[in-house]
Amino acid sequence: MTEISASQDQVLIFDTTLRDGEQSPGATMTLGEKLQIAALLDEMGVDIIEAGFPIASEGDFEAVSEIAKLAKTSVICGLARANFKDIDRCWEAVRHARRPRIHTFIGTSPQHRAIPNLDMDQMAQRIHETVTHARNLCDNVQWSPMDATRTEHDYLCRVVEIAIKAGATTINIPDTVGYTAPAESADLIRMLIERVPGADTITFATHCHNDLGMATANALAAVAAGARQIECTINGLGERAGNTALEEVVMALRVRNDIMPFRTGIDTTKIMQASRLVSTVSGFPVQFNKAIVGKNAFAHESGIHQDGMLKSADTFEIMRPSDIGLTETNLVMGKHSGRAALRAKLVDLGYALGDNQLNDVFVRFKALADRKKEVYDDDLIALMQDTGTNAANDRIQVKSLRVVCGTDAPQTAELTLTIEGAEHSSHATGDGPVDAAFNAVKALVAHDARLQLYQVHAVTEGTDAQATVTVRMEEAGKIVTGHSSDTDTIVASVRAYVNALNKLMVRRLKTAPEAASA
Ligand code: KIV
Ligand code: ZN
Repeated sequence: MTEISASQDQVLIFDTTLRDGEQSPGATMTLGEKLQIAALLDEMGVDIIEAGFPIASEGDFEAVSEIAKLAKTSVICGLARANFKDIDRCWEAVRHARRPRIHTFIGTSPQHRAIPNLDMDQMAQRIHETVTHARNLCDNVQWSPMDATRTEHDYLCRVVEIAIKAGATTINIPDTVGYTAPAESADLIRMLIERVPGADTITFATHCHNDLGMATANALAAVAAGARQIECTINGLGERAGNTALEEVVMALRVRNDIMPFRTGIDTTKIMQASRLVSTVSGFPVQFNKAIVGKNAFAHESGIHQDGMLKSADTFEIMRPSDIGLTETNLVMGKHSGRAALRAKLVDLGYALGDNQLNDVFVRFKALADRKKEVYDDDLIALMQDTGTNAANDRIQVKSLRVVCGTDAPQTAELTLTIEGAEHSSHATGDGPVDAAFNAVKALVAHDARLQLYQVHAVTEGTDAQATVTVRMEEAGKIVTGHSSDTDTIVASVRAYVNALNKLMVRRLKTAPEAASA
């Protein structure tokens, strides 16, 4: 069965982290990272996963096909523009899923109609043909009039009716440029339900962008007016100011169920894990005061608040940390902690590992505990997030690094990398230790990629804290992000740099020459 529709009190959660989220410059993810995220979204009860835009590149196609094969319960959706070639390619990728969906779209506002140079009638005809074609391939078809919130109402009603008649089962109403406001978002959905024949036979979706900071409010207003699918991303990842944040709408519906009596199928205790994973993979840190998943979201600094919290948690808390999978244990790990304690701690933090994976993490945990007396929750999270760095199958790996730095310039670096199995060494100088170390990498791996971002964060307090480093690079329009953590900031920096270079190699191989974009 591939059909999916919401009941009156249920709101379907459509996650587009891997498509709209990944479109955010620099958020490019590898196949392995996408599979990891998709598996977690499936497990946490996301109804529909938009896994990518199959025609955009070979890499996107492969990712959507592989996710389609692995998904257990989620519907797997791919994006396609309004032409047969895109739709056929999309179907080829999603057809492996137990529950496939084709999502096809075209810009319907005056601003967007000018791009394909179609007049209103020609565009209406194109919508009829492409939705019919998609529906002949798949019985679960979503159609989106891009920039719906700036489309003339009469024309919007006309094209939505055409799409429904052609077989669309979900009609998504995107606020592509983040222009609408809550009352208007609700009015638009209400207007469509009232005016379009057949509106009661399909599910309306809301897809909001956060340019004016109203994406969550706009999505919830659309639900109050009758939409039953929310399109969103983890951490609100997405182009410009991002998309509606999944964690915000899901927790708002749960906490304020008294005034928004709708349920979702999301296991909220997986939210924190998903947030950390997406932040690591995308290289986009979560702002400290971000609703639900920010580091400070449950922190109570002021004396008055702490006093209130000690007396009763609900004085200042409208939800519990455990609701989103944040556990507070005071158990600090160290070099005498055993495998069982590590496993239990990781389960507490939301990571359930198989035996092989646990063995690997245990070795790295011991190495960290040897250098750092006390290993805190945040250290373990950084360790888990670092799992993909310096992986055995990477083409370039860091073997050893020695850096000389101090008041007397120049700073120098001696580096040995293993490149496709063979060891290569270099010696370089630079303006500071990081510059010297990066020059040593460049001496061994020549490239024209431009460094866009170099960012260092201390994981915990104290001078023995681990540093998490993010490196973002751009080459011929392709942007990749590498990351790594270590108690030695320079080692973490070189590993993050090498991690980005490995991703760049994969991107060079995977990107099709005629890459398309939405
Ligand atoms: O924002 C938008 O309009 C989109 C469409 C492709 C649905 O992402
Ligand atoms: Zn979008």
